[in-house]
Amino acid sequence: MNYEAEAAECQARVEEALRSAVPDTIPEPLQSAMRYALLSPGKRLRPMLLLKAHDMLAPADERVMPFAAAMEMIHAYSLVHDDLPAMDNDVLRRGQPTCHVAYGEAMAILAGDGLLNLAHETMLESRHPRALEAAHTISRYAGAHGMVGGQCLDIAFTGKPMDRDLIERMQTGKTAALFQAAVEAGLILAGASEEQLQAGSAYALGLGRAFQIIDDLLDLHSDAAALGKTPGKDLAEDKLTWPKAVGEEQAAKDAKYWTDQAAEALAPFGEKAGFLRETALRALHRIH
Ligand code: IPE
Ligand code: IPE
Ligand code: MG
Ligand code: MG
Ligand code: MG
Repeated sequence: MNYEAEAAECQARVEEALRSAVPDTIPEPLQSAMRYALLSPGKRLRPMLLLKAHDMLAPADERVMPFAAAMEMIHAYSLVHDDLPAMDNDVLRRGQPTCHVAYGEAMAILAGDGLLNLAHETMLESRHPRALEAAHTISRYAGAHGMVGGQCLDIAFTGKPMDRDLIERMQTGKTAALFQAAVEAGLILAGASEEQLQAGSAYALGLGRAFQIIDDLLDLHSDAAALGKTPGKDLAEDKLTWPKAVGEEQAAKDAKYWTDQAAEALAPFGEKAGFLRETALRALHRIH
């Protein structure tokens, strides 16, 4: 199977799991707001990374899918809260009005809360023998030491003077942490060794760093139709971004550097890492 076909097949399986993930017993309009945020057309990169990392080391297992779905729930919640007026104040996400534009701010906050908790419920119901360890890793990377901490630095330092170390720490937290969560959890569920976990983590860190630098560059140069978000927002809000810190040309070089680091980190997995390697290379040239 070529890369596109394999990715499409994986995304379709994730999509099917997500469609039935939000229980119809949740009160309205919360249920609709959660489904709106979760099912809007995203790339499903984090669930795909989790499944493909797992499948490098162990046969495909349906009990892994709840963790992939949980990664997308946590990611979707992070986007809903990231777009709120108190944070990035964005009106367009995945080509649609943001959750708070469609459902109001209070309901968007609750939809994020609901998705985060549903993620944990889903993982703990999986009956996978390594569920606790994988869920613990995901919680740690998603929380205040990871994604939430990165978002804190993003908000606290908006409009402040440039500091490269700080931007690197902020981007590692707000973006790379969820990639690390996905890859490490997939490997943990497959019974990976400590060495394999470290290699997977280094891959995800490189991919995540490159991914956020490209996100910053796309904000400068893409258009709303391709991006599904409002471009130019980082400058307008005086955000600390990598191109702003080092210049656009250097930022593009750094994205390439981190992508190479990611690809090299996969060496211990040999040929089995073909899909993850290709994912990192394609992320560098993505247009949305
Ligand atoms: C957007 O992530 C947020 C960032 C970390 C830059 P994605 O670009 O993966 O968003 P979707 O899921 O495809 O919408
Ligand atoms: C977001 O970074 C990272 C998250 C944890 C949501 P950005 O604020 O740059 O992401 P976009 O550009 O809104 O997708
Ligand atoms: Mg943000
Ligand atoms: Mg944002
Ligand atoms: Mg951005």
